[in-house]
Amino acid sequence: MTTQVIDLKREHQSTLDTPRYKYSFMAKMFFFGMDLIAGKRDDLPKAKLLEILASIPYRVWEIRHYFKLTRKFRNIDRVKKAQDVIDWGRDAQDNEYMHLLVIHEKMKEDGLKDKWYLCPFVTFFAVASYVVIARLMAFFSQKRAFLFNAEFENHAELVYAKLINANPQWEEQKVDNALVKAYADVDTWADVFRRISLDERDHMNHSFEFCGKPELVQKYEGMPETYSRH
Ligand SMILES: [Fe+2]
Ligand SMILES: [Fe+2]
Repeated sequence: MTTQVIDLKREHQSTLDTPRYKYSFMAKMFFFGMDLIAGKRDDLPKAKLLEILASIPYRVWEIRHYFKLTRKFRNIDRVKKAQDVIDWGRDAQDNEYMHLLVIHEKMKEDGLKDKWYLCPFVTFFAVASYVVIARLMAFFSQKRAFLFNAEFENHAELVYAKLINANPQWEEQKVDNALVKAYADVDTWADVFRRISLDERDHMNHSFEFCGKPELVQKYEGMPETYSRH
């Protein structure tokens, strides 16, 4: 992952300064549900739950679009479009999974225990519910599914930006964990979380591109190319 050309501190401030997308009723209900389970206060265990859920839509779309590849193989334009979604979905879900591992490493380092809602019984139901929601949304409107995900990612970007401010000690804490360094080769934990926040912005931007709203993309220096190539 490229980190040299990106000014993480500047982008962190830009996240805090940028007004949030005007969330739909559905997105507000979703965030309300998350607050009901994990509490209103954002912390690392809650971010863990967020990351457990975050990869689900990408995985759902990847599978859907693999089916599409087979069904539409006679139509090369449709094939290329489906391949774009698959390429993005694979990258994004791997990236979300790295976020989960990184948060787990940070919690281990800080001696933080998982909260009750991270027990396998609860996460099973949270994951199963979101799989059903993600499948239904993609079935009825793939565009709406992309837009809902943009809302989810827009929210996640701010959660991390605020977490960094709420934990000023991260600015001094050096990263010496090989797994975390493999994710982002930065010096401090604050920059690790700045990188995660910016990843969420990338996910949001790509979601806006795929749902046909490129005007909502939050551009910045060093941002990755679009996956929506066709
Ligand atoms: Fe994430
Ligand atoms: Fe994300």
